[in-house]
Amino acid sequence: MKNIAVLTSGGDAPGMNAAIRAVVRTGIAKGWNVYGVEHGYAGLMNGQMQILGQRDVGGIVHLGGTILGSARALEFKTVEGRQKALDELAKREIGGLVVIGGNGSQTGAHALSEMGFPVVGVASTIDNDLYGSEITIGVDTALNIALEAIDRLKTTASSHKRAFLIEVMGRDCGYLALMAGIAGGAEYISIPEVPTEPVDIANELHAAYARGKKHSIIVVAEGAKYDAEALVQYFKEHKATLGFELRATTLGHVQRGGSPTAFDRLLATRLGAAATAALANGEHGILVGTNQSTITKTPLATVIVSKKKLDFGLIELQKELDR
Ligand code: F6P
Repeated sequence: MKNIAVLTSGGDAPGMNAAIRAVVRTGIAKGWNVYGVEHGYAGLMNGQMQILGQRDVGGIVHLGGTILGSARALEFKTVEGRQKALDELAKREIGGLVVIGGNGSQTGAHALSEMGFPVVGVASTIDNDLYGSEITIGVDTALNIALEAIDRLKTTASSHKRAFLIEVMGRDCGYLALMAGIAGGAEYISIPEVPTEPVDIANELHAAYARGKKHSIIVVAEGAKYDAEALVQYFKEHKATLGFELRATTLGHVQRGGSPTAFDRLLATRLGAAATAALANGEHGILVGTNQSTITKTPLATVIVSKKKLDFGLIELQKELDR
């Protein structure tokens, strides 16, 4: 194999650039040309790729986002779309592909691999909902951003008799909300995995005030049964009985931006290097991830049909801590 390619796909995650850099530099060290594909699978189908040199990936390890760009490409879900991508790869005699991304991206990687092309996935999503990696690239940075926001809200919440609600990302998974909530000392955490009614939250906050708390912080995942907007509406309607107001902050994409933490840079670097090492060993159709600081390799076929489980013991722990 002389040529490989690398792409980033789906929602970006801080640390993706460190992973690209590691793939490019460890690939070059193996004597390969490494093509950088622009805009994910869309760019792959359109042949938007060029060889990256050592200097092309210089000065990016500390940058959030992805220098290659990312996209969500519906056409790649079709056999015709994937065949277009295979033709573009064949034109350049590319013999391996590294896909840096989350669930949707690894589903695409598996589909391409099923068509006989050597693909290695690198676990990257701020949601931490990808089976096959205990933690994924971008999670640590996103978590720290959410935590900083909670800490800031807490100080102002203490000054007034107010409850603050913070909505964090996580369409299908409550990992970020749960971890940020525990680390930030939230009074209530609402996640998609445990459907909660507004009245449950209201009762909990009422009890917290009765115990003498000066403030209340509620952390809600964007995919929870009731999002920030619905909860604000409920609290507005029940202000007279609840006796306090609710202010909401939606963090949104702020969590995906900014400089990656040391943890994310190191994780991304290790996973990027592991991906080229796997290709060099003739291993493909796998996701490289991590478990307890060790690099793991999981078949993409398993990754895409498995659901990563949230540690429900942590939900109980949060309840015990909220005293
Ligand atoms: O999958 C990562 C993620 O940031 C989710 O938490 C969020 O629901 C989604 O991407 C947002 O996607 P987009 O950037 O396309 O709006």
